[in-house]
Amino acid sequence: EAMLAAGGPLTGRHVLVTSGPTHEPIDPVRYIANRSSGKQGHALASAAARAGARVTLVSGPVNLPAPPGVTVRPVESARDMLAAVEAALPADVAIFAAAVADWRAASEAPEKMKKDGGALPPLALTENPDILATIAHRTAGRPRLVIGFAAETQNVVAYAQAKRARKGCDWIVANDVSAQSGIPGGVMGGDSNQVHLITADGGEAWPPASKAEVAERLIARIAAALGERES
Ligand code: CTP
Ligand code: CA
Repeated sequence: EAMLAAGGPLTGRHVLVTSGPTHEPIDPVRYIANRSSGKQGHALASAAARAGARVTLVSGPVNLPAPPGVTVRPVESARDMLAAVEAALPADVAIFAAAVADWRAASEAPEKMKKDGGALPPLALTENPDILATIAHRTAGRPRLVIGFAAETQNVVAYAQAKRARKGCDWIVANDVSAQSGIPGGVMGGDSNQVHLITADGGEAWPPASKAEVAERLIARIAAALGERES
C-alpha cells in the first residue's frame, strides 16, 4: 500500500478535507447539531491518502476511526473548524464535506440552564462563519481547487449551481438528502450516495454508488484536473 501511495496521482499534494457535523454549545451540557455521520468526508480523506496525498482531515464529532495515513484535527464548533482549516493551509485542494451548523446560540450559558418555574428559556441564534466561502474567496493562499458539498431536499441541481456561484468555489458535489432520493434508508448516515458534480461547465449526474466509490471517483477527477492545469 505504501508503494502504491508513493506512485499515486496525488503524490506531493496536500489535500484538506472537512467532515462530520459541528456541535454548537448552548450550555455546558447541551448543543445544537445535525445528522451528519462524516462517512462521505472520511471516505474522501481515505481515498486521497490512498492516491498518495498528504491529507489533513478537520472533523467534527463522529463515530468513525481515523482513516489510515491521514492527520486528523478534531474540532467541535464551526468556529473551531474554521480556525483548524486556516491553520492547516496551505493546501493544493480543499474539500468541504462537513455539515457545518448554520447557526449557534448567540451566547453560551456559563452554567447548566435550569427549568425555572415553567418559563421557557429564550434561545437566540446567530449565524456561523461560512468556512467554504471564507476559503474560496481568499485572494492569497487560496487552494487551487476548492470543492463544496450541497445537501438539498429539492431543486438539487439549480440550488447547487446558485450555491457554487455564491460561495466562489470551483466545484460543488450536490446530493439529494430527501426521503424521496431513491437511496434506500436515505443518504444521511447511510452508506450510499447519489451526487451531481457541478462545475463551471455545468452539471453531470453520477450513478448511485457507495460513499467510498463516490470518494474514489471524485479523487480521480481531482487528480486529472490538477494534472491538466499543470501541463
Ligand atoms: N459550509 C461551510 N460553512 C458553513 C456552512 C456551509 O463551510 N457555515 C459548506 C459545507 O461544508 C458545504 C457547503 O458549504 O460544502 C454548502 O453547505 P450547505 O449547508 O449546503 O450550504 P448553506 O450555504 O449553508 O445553505 P443552506 O441554507 O442550503 O444550508
Ligand atoms: Ca447549511
